[in-house]
Amino acid sequence: MKINNTPFRTIWPTADNTAVEIIDQTRLPHEFVTLRLNTMRDAERAIRDMLVRGAPLIGVTAAYGVALAMRDHASDAALADACSVLLAARPTAVNLRWGVEKMRALLAPLPESERAAAAWKEAARIADEDVAINAAIGKHGSEIIRAIHHRKNDTVNILTHCNAGWLATVDWGTALAPIYTAFDAGIPLHVWVDETRPRNQGASLTAWELGQHGVPHTVIVDNAGGHLMQHGMVDMAIVGCDRVTACGDVCNKIGTYLKALAAHDNGVPFYVALPTPTIDWTLQDGVKEIPIEERAAEEVTHIAGLCSDGQVRTVQVTPQGSRAANYGFDVTPARLVTGLITERGVVKADAKAMLVLR
Ligand code: MRU
Repeated sequence: MKINNTPFRTIWPTADNTAVEIIDQTRLPHEFVTLRLNTMRDAERAIRDMLVRGAPLIGVTAAYGVALAMRDHASDAALADACSVLLAARPTAVNLRWGVEKMRALLAPLPESERAAAAWKEAARIADEDVAINAAIGKHGSEIIRAIHHRKNDTVNILTHCNAGWLATVDWGTALAPIYTAFDAGIPLHVWVDETRPRNQGASLTAWELGQHGVPHTVIVDNAGGHLMQHGMVDMAIVGCDRVTACGDVCNKIGTYLKALAAHDNGVPFYVALPTPTIDWTLQDGVKEIPIEERAAEEVTHIAGLCSDGQVRTVQVTPQGSRAANYGFDVTPARLVTGLITERGVVKADAKAMLVLR
């Protein structure tokens, strides 16, 4: 996608093919800063500290992390170490495991002398594949938006949560890909952007990237969605996800479940956009089986923003001494999901229907 009319991906190899560069997402929306990842440890830190985030981008960054490790040491021990360090960086997104295991499977049988070059090529291939997958999600999802527009003959209002746009992937995004595709095709639409406390991925990232592309949008507090749905102001919701079970339970950013409940109560279609590598075929019951990342309390007790003097500062919003809990994700049961928008088409969120995606 474009930033000030210049095309960007979220991760790309340096010109000399020895390292990778990323957009530091912790600095957006107030500063656009790119950073060079020189080592596997740099990649691990970028994932852990959320300089890169979003399930598909985490998977690709991890793949490049393995490639950076192989550039330095390509022994079996180095491969095993890189895989275990990267796998531990964040727990929820299954794409992380998918990216790392794909690299391990390719590299383990190769002689050491061939691993570095093969790893680099495979990481680049995984990145390109992500772009192609998301473009296909965009195509399939935009047909749903087109159908709503056809029926309504007016602007389509779409609610989204967190950031599942191009910043969460290599390009296009998952939940936002149908929105960009429909917008580019001239379908009038407007996006309600949940701010997504505590890290505000909606307010800071989704709003920023929609604005860069010229898509009309309005940021709302996380608790506003139910009210808007009751008043007919939301035609559909599209969210991304970090893991989907074989039965169609969806794990996504905390607060998604409440939006799905409100959508269900108000007859608003609730779609989940995902690349098929986000499906964890080993799991059935998402509520019981998906480990939920718990992050630092400071993300809840403190908030950062742009001050009137142009400086970004962090302030405390809770009383001194109050404890805070910070669950990063929740699980939306399949029964609340209208459909899964994948690169292979739109599929019902149930075990039988999902078999076509295996
Ligand atoms: O914690 P993050 O910012 O990495 O979480 C990302 C999300 O949960 C998004 O909602 C997204 O839907 C999944 S990535 C396309």
